[in-house]
Amino acid sequence: MYKIFMVFGALFVLASCQEDEGFIETPEVILSGGETTIFSTGPDAFTFPLANLEQDGLDRHFEADAIFGQQFVSAPAIKFGGIGPLFNQNSCESCHTRNGRGAIPQFEGDQSSGLLLRLSIPGTGLHNGIVPAPGFGGQLQNKAIFGVASEGKISKSEVDKIVQYVDGVEIVLSKPTYSIIEPYMALPAELMISPRVAPPVHGLGLLEAISDMDILALADETDANGDGISGKPNMVWDVLKQGMEIGRFGWKAEQPTAAQQAADAAHNDMGLTNFFFPNNPCEGQENCEEGLQDENDVDEETINLFAFYSQTLAVPSQRNTDQPEVINGRKIFNSINCSSCHVPEFTTGAHEITALVNQKIAPFTDMLLHDMGEGLADNRPTFSANGQEWRTSPLWGIGLTQVVNPKATFLHDGRAKTIEEAILWHGGEAEASKEQFRKLKKSDREDLLAFLKSL
Ligand code: HEC
Ligand code: HEC
Repeated sequence: MYKIFMVFGALFVLASCQEDEGFIETPEVILSGGETTIFSTGPDAFTFPLANLEQDGLDRHFEADAIFGQQFVSAPAIKFGGIGPLFNQNSCESCHTRNGRGAIPQFEGDQSSGLLLRLSIPGTGLHNGIVPAPGFGGQLQNKAIFGVASEGKISKSEVDKIVQYVDGVEIVLSKPTYSIIEPYMALPAELMISPRVAPPVHGLGLLEAISDMDILALADETDANGDGISGKPNMVWDVLKQGMEIGRFGWKAEQPTAAQQAADAAHNDMGLTNFFFPNNPCEGQENCEEGLQDENDVDEETINLFAFYSQTLAVPSQRNTDQPEVINGRKIFNSINCSSCHVPEFTTGAHEITALVNQKIAPFTDMLLHDMGEGLADNRPTFSANGQEWRTSPLWGIGLTQVVNPKATFLHDGRAKTIEEAILWHGGEAEASKEQFRKLKKSDREDLLAFLKSL
């Protein structure tokens, strides 16, 4: 498999270096994940292991693949038990559809989507983190095992907003507001709710392998260079190191490592206690007395496998890099400053998985938090992130989002049905960039979108 991929890689580079009369530009980056890049463009594009993974790694990856798709059940069960008492879904894959995004609720009352609600009340908690909502914790679990009351149900309402391009074309954007209905007890006063849809999980090992130094070099908290764009790391609690580290994963970069992210997902989304988080998330709640036991629901190896899976999932190569519209779109992407946050290029540093080390990658993120304005605000601070800040989303693979899951949408709460809508929601530090997009002539607008679809 490895050899075939490498031959493909060589062809790609050759093809894109041909110089037609019309253009002489050589696209700068084709192999989005360096030597780890794969070349699938279909619905399974996010399901391949790193192209350069050795046999041992491949074996482990496929073992991890099975467990990522495994549906867990409630205890007592001989294998894959321990879900709940409260949970959101019974497998990782049920939210991260084909390792891509989950869908938002498809109809009023849909409780089985890839969207969840993070909860807290005002104040600063342990290690500068959130203060969990009394009776509900840090996340609404909208499902429960037999005989236990779930915490409540997710409900949504929407308000439309119209945006106009300079050529008169109008786009209707819908802003969702999520709330909790049928709570098992009264909701606490001043409850803060942050809706989050399941993001894709490919390429996380490469993002983990970007050095702290490279991320910090891009931070500009006080906007010293005066470009209107600041950018700061989220400093979050690292459970294993027992200290603050740069947050990398999740829409607000709340988790420092793939392992802690996986452990948190197992814990909060599925109610699987583990060595990172040995206490059940609903402990102490009156609906949570059943089914608690002393032992962790899953062992250390299971958590490490969950982590290894996203660490070793490959990113697909950029496509159509020789098309004039893609080439022009890339220029526009740079010229209207999308690239100041969606940083095109990094070289990875050290990582325990050697396939990830020293790769020239094109993730289109700076891994930093940016104020995105009131339109996108969740008004729920967490660690160093305030209520308007979000981590720059990596754009690699974004063009395949709806090939992988036709129901997938964009942005942290999945409010944008298209990439175009996602851009139009940009505000705050990205306001100037968004306005330049809104003022582009139609063909340039389309070229920019063609570029994004090539990623
Ligand atoms: C109920 C739906 C749901 C389930 C089940 C679920 N996730 Fe997630 N996952 C999410 C959401 C939502 C986020 C974003 C969280 C945030 O922003 O804080 C996320 C984030 C992630 C990320 C970070 C991705 C990134 O780009 O930063 C990883 C990795 C991940 N989940 C792995 C897992 C694993 C492993 C499991 C199973 C143990 C799992 N998830 C189960 C919804 C889910
Ligand atoms: C100030 C930094 C910044 C700038 C400038 C910026 N973005 Fe973003 N972008 C972000 C952040 C942060 C998010 C995540 C917002 C959210 O989910 O609420 C995002 C999200 C996106 C998404 C959706 C990603 C996803 O996974 O759903 C797309 C597409 C996108 N940006 C494209 C662009 C384009 C094109 C431009 C230039 C017109 C641009 N961005 C300029 C920071 C920026």
